[in-house]
Amino acid sequence: MYVYDQHDQKIIDERVAQFRDQTNRYTAGELSEEEFLPLRLQNGLYVQRLAPMLRVAVPYGLMSSAQLRKLAEISRVYDKGYAHISTRQNVQLNWPLVAEVPDILADLASVQMHAIQTSGNCIRNTTTDQFAGVACDELQDPRPYCEIIRQWSTLHPEFAFLPRKFKIAVCGTEEDRAAIRNHDVGIELVTNDSNEIGLKVLVGGGLGRTPVIGSVICEWLDKKHMLTYLEAILRVYNQHGRRDNKYKARIKILVKAMGIAAFREAVEKEWEATKEGPSTLHDAVFEKARASFRAPDYSAFDAGETSAILHGECERDGIFKQWVTHNTEDHRVPGYRIVTLSLKSTGYTPGDITAEQMELVAGLADKYSFGELRTTHQQNLVLADVPVSDLYTLWQNLQSADLATANIGLLTDMICCPGGDFCALANAKSIPVAEAIQTRFDDIDYLHDLGPIELNISGCMNACGHHHIGHIGILGVDKKGQEFYQVCLGGSQAKDASLGKILGPSFKQDDMPDIIENILTTYLSQRQLEENFLDTYRRIGIEPFKERVYAKNN
Ligand code: HEM
Ligand code: SF4
Repeated sequence: MYVYDQHDQKIIDERVAQFRDQTNRYTAGELSEEEFLPLRLQNGLYVQRLAPMLRVAVPYGLMSSAQLRKLAEISRVYDKGYAHISTRQNVQLNWPLVAEVPDILADLASVQMHAIQTSGNCIRNTTTDQFAGVACDELQDPRPYCEIIRQWSTLHPEFAFLPRKFKIAVCGTEEDRAAIRNHDVGIELVTNDSNEIGLKVLVGGGLGRTPVIGSVICEWLDKKHMLTYLEAILRVYNQHGRRDNKYKARIKILVKAMGIAAFREAVEKEWEATKEGPSTLHDAVFEKARASFRAPDYSAFDAGETSAILHGECERDGIFKQWVTHNTEDHRVPGYRIVTLSLKSTGYTPGDITAEQMELVAGLADKYSFGELRTTHQQNLVLADVPVSDLYTLWQNLQSADLATANIGLLTDMICCPGGDFCALANAKSIPVAEAIQTRFDDIDYLHDLGPIELNISGCMNACGHHHIGHIGILGVDKKGQEFYQVCLGGSQAKDASLGKILGPSFKQDDMPDIIENILTTYLSQRQLEENFLDTYRRIGIEPFKERVYAKNN
C-alpha cells in the first residue's frame, strides 16, 4: 500500500499541532463556537446528537493491520470501544471528547492516518472497488488513480471552499462495485477502439434530497489528462455552482440546470487553457503510483490441488460451504480467494466493529493476508489475499468473533446510516429498524433462498444509507414529530443504476418487519426461475407489491 513520504508525514504532523492549538483556544473560551466550527470541520469533527463524531479518512478503503490495531486502541482509550465503517469506506468514532481529539489525531498520525477533508465543502475521500487489484474482472487496478487524486486533492488551495462537498469514485471492472454513477464524478477505466486504457468520466450523480444518476461527460479520456480534466470540471462547478441554497449547491444541480451538453462544452472550454499544463500526468507519475500497489509476494499454489482441498472441506461442513459461497470471491491469482468479513451479524449494529474484533482482524490480516485489509462501502471488511488452504482456519477464527455470517449480498447484509441514535440531522432512527429486520429474517436458509437483495436504510433524506439505490430502500421521515418510514423499491447501485420508486404512504417502526415480509412474499410468489429480486421487480413493476402491502387485511 502507499507509504507516506516525509512530505505527507509533515503535512499531517503540522495539522495535528495546529488543531491542538485551535482546540486549546476553543476550550479556554478564546475561540467562539462559530470560529471553531470551520476549524473542526476541516479535521473531520462534527457535533452530533449526543457527542461529537470524528470521521477518520481511509483512502480508497485500504488499511494496514497496524492502522486497524491503532484504531482499536483509540476506540478503547478515547471512545466506547467500537468504531463504525461508513458508506464512504471511512471510519467514524461516535463518542470522542472535543478536548481529546488532538490526542486522537496525534495517535492517528503515528500510523499515517488523519481526518483531514473528511468533512467540509472540499474533495472528499476517493472511493473504489473493495476488490481492487485482485478482482478477476478488472481491466486495471484503480488504486493508483485514486492515490494520484488523493495527492492532488489533499489541501488543494483552489478547491478548499467549493459550493458543497465533492465526491469521486473510481472503478476498473466490468461490474461497478464502487457506485460510480452516484458520485459527483465517477471514473471508469475502459478501453478505446485501439485497445488503450483510458477513463470514461461521469458527472453529476448523487443521492440526498435530489437523487440523480450521473451523466457521461467523456467516453474516453487519455489518462494523462485525468487531473487537468478534473480541474476543469471543478472550476466550472466552483464558478457556477449555486452558493445561495445548500440543497441546490451540489454539482448534480448545476449539470441538470445547464444540461450535460452545455456543461461539457463549458468544461472543454475551461480545459483548453490547462490541457497540456503542469498537471498533465506523465508515465513516471503512474509508474510511481503503481509501485505503491505492487502485488504481494504470492506463493505458487497448484490451483487444482487447492480447489480439491476446499471442495473436500465444503463437503464435510455445510456451514463452511455456505460461507465460502457467499463471503468469498475468485481471486486473480491461483490458490487465493478474496474474503469479505460480515459486520452484519444479528444483534450487531450494521457497520459497527468492536475494539476486540478490530484486534482480531488485524491479527488475521497479518497471518493470512499480507497485513492488509479493506473497508467496503457496504460497511464490511475485506481480506483480499487469503490462501485457499487457510480458509477453513480463518473461518473458524472469524466465527468465534461473530464475523462469519454467510450473508454477504443478502437481505441482512444491509447498509444502514447511524440515524437518530447518533446523527443530529435524522428524522428517524435507522438502527432499530435494521435490527428488527435482522432479527425477523435470521434464518440463513431462507436468506439464501431469497438470493441477492440489497436493503438500504437512511434516517433522513440526506441518504447516507443510500436508500434510493437499494433494491429495497427505507427512509426515515418525520410526520408531525413522529417517526415514520417510507419504502422504495427497484433501486440499483450497479452498472444498470436506477433510483427506487416510492411504494406509497409511510409506515410505523413496529410494522417494518411485516412490511418487508409482505414485499418478500410477493417476490417469492412471482419470481421465475433464476430471477433475483431486482429482476422480478423490473419485470412485474411496483403494483403487485403495492397491492399486497396496502391490502385491507394487512
Ligand atoms: C452522523 C453524522 C453524519 C452527518 C452529520 C452526515 C451528514 C450528511 C449530509 C448533510 C449529507 C447530505 C449530502 C447531500 O447534500 O447530498 C450526507 C450524505 C452522505 N453521507 Fe452522511 N452524515 C453522517 C454520517 C454518515 C455515515 C455514518 C455515513 C455512512 C454510513 C455517511 C455517508 C454519507 C454518504 C455516502 C452520503 C452521500 C450522499 C451523496 O452525496 O450522494 N454519512 N451526510
Ligand atoms: S441519512 Fe440523515 S440520519 Fe442518516 S446519517 Fe445521514 S444525515 Fe444522519
